[in-house]
Amino acid sequence: MIPHSRPTISQEDIKAVCDVLESGAIAQGEAVKEFEGSVASFVGVKGGSAVNSGTSALHLALVALGVKAGDEVILPGYLCVAPLNAVRYVGATPVFSDINPGTGNIDAERTKAVASEKTKAIIVPHMLGQPVRMEGFRELGIPVIEDCAQSIGARYKGQCVGSFGDVAICSFYATKVITTGEGGMVLSDNEEVLETIRDLRDYDEKTPYMTRFNYKMTDMQAALGITQIRRLPDFIAKRSQIADFYNHVLADLPVRLPFKATGCEPVFYRYVLRIGSDVEDFIKSMAEFNVVCRRPVYRPLHQLFDQTGLKNTDLIWNDSVSIPIYPMLTDQEKEQVALSVKKTLCK
Ligand SMILES: Cc1ncc(COP(=O)(O)O)c(C=O)c1O
Repeated sequence: MIPHSRPTISQEDIKAVCDVLESGAIAQGEAVKEFEGSVASFVGVKGGSAVNSGTSALHLALVALGVKAGDEVILPGYLCVAPLNAVRYVGATPVFSDINPGTGNIDAERTKAVASEKTKAIIVPHMLGQPVRMEGFRELGIPVIEDCAQSIGARYKGQCVGSFGDVAICSFYATKVITTGEGGMVLSDNEEVLETIRDLRDYDEKTPYMTRFNYKMTDMQAALGITQIRRLPDFIAKRSQIADFYNHVLADLPVRLPFKATGCEPVFYRYVLRIGSDVEDFIKSMAEFNVVCRRPVYRPLHQLFDQTGLKNTDLIWNDSVSIPIYPMLTDQEKEQVALSVKKTLCK
C-alpha cells in the first residue's frame, strides 16, 4: 500500500535525537530555545514559544489574547476539530465562516459577514498548504491567529504565512511539513504574548499560583525540529516537484486540480483533486490499486452541530480527495498514484 502520508526522517535527524538522549538532559532546555529561534527567523517574526502540540499552541494563544467564556471566535467550517477544541477549552463560542469557492480557504469578506461585537479572535488556517489571501483581515479590528499547522514555509506575496497576524501557530505532528513527532509553536512579534505562553506551558515553582499547564516540548523533539527546519526548503521543493508532475499527467482528466491563486506560493501539504461527485467510491477504487487516499477534512465543523448554510464548505468537502504527496514518495510510487487516478476516473 502507498500510504497517504509519511514523515521524512534522515540519519541526521536520528543522530540529533540520539545526541540529546546521550546528553542526559532530555526535557525542555537549550534545544527548545534554539528551535524556537530557528522557526521564528524562518517565518520572519520576533520569537516563538514551543509547546507539545498545535492544539496546545492554539489553546495558549487564545488564553494569551484574553479570549474567555462568552466570547466568540470565528473559524472556517472547513477545518479539522483541533482548533474547535481549543476554542471550547477556553469556554468561547465557535462561529463558523464559509470558505471562498475558488481558494477553499477562509477570506475577510466571509469572516466579516459572521463577525459581531462578541468576536474576540479569528482563526485563519492556511489549509492544505495553500496560503490565505490576507487582505482585509486587519481592517476588521479583531485579533488574528494564523493557523500554519499545514503550511509552514508557504508564502503570500513573498512573505511567509505566520507573519501576517497578531499571533500564529504551527504543528509538528508526525506527518506535517516538518515534524517533531508531536509538537507545536506559537509565533509572534509580541513579546508579552510569547512570555505569557512560556509561563503558562510550565506549572512548576511559579508564584503567584494560577492554573497553568504541562504543555512543554522536550529537547529530544526540538533537536529533531532543528534538523527538520534546516531541510524545510528541500521538503517544499520536493513537494512542489511532485505537484508539478501530477499537474502535468492529470491535466486532461475531468477533475479540478489544486487552485493556484496569484501571489500564493503553497507548500503542497496536500494535493487535492475535486472530482465533481462524492469521493467515497474514488477512495475505495484507489485502495484496490494499493493507494491510500483521504478526504482532506474528516467532517466540516458546522455539520457537527447540525448547522447549515455553509454552501461552499459542503460542496468542497463532498467532492475533494487528497492523494499521496510527501518528500519520501518515490518516482515509481508517484507514477503508480497518477496511473491509479487515471484508471479510477476513466472506469
Ligand atoms: C489546521 C490544523 N490546526 C491545528 C491542528 C492541531 O495540531 P496538533 O495535531 O499538533 O495538535 C491541526 C492538526 O492536524 C491542523 O490540521
